Amino acid sequence: MKVSVTELKKQVHAGVQELGYQGQDAAIIAAAQRVEHYEIAAYGTVRTYAEILGEQNAVSLLEKTLEEEKETDQKLTELAEGINVEAAAAEPEHQRSTNQKSKAARM
Ligand SMILES: [Fe+2]
Repeated sequence: MKVSVTELKKQVHAGVQELGYQGQDAAIIAAAQRVEHYEIAAYGTVRTYAEILGEQNAVSLLEKTLEEEKETDQKLTELAEGINVEAAAAEPEHQRSTNQKSKAARM
């Protein structure tokens, strides 16, 4: 499977633009999960082809790889659950600078 690193960087950059600096880790995890989902679809499809062709050795290997991809996706989900809460709790940078200007204006 080929996934363009440039495309992943674009997705992370777009996530950071949307979520702010605090959302950077969440954006990276989201991009990694897109890769895992792509891999799950690809390995699942090829495993099915191997089944149809009666290639039992290939079916076993592809099933093992497919399960590894699902485990990785699950680990990323668990990471995201914690990181997304942290990102949501963090004050967005644009809001922080606005608050600092408001405080300065009141002084
Ligand atoms: Fe993977």
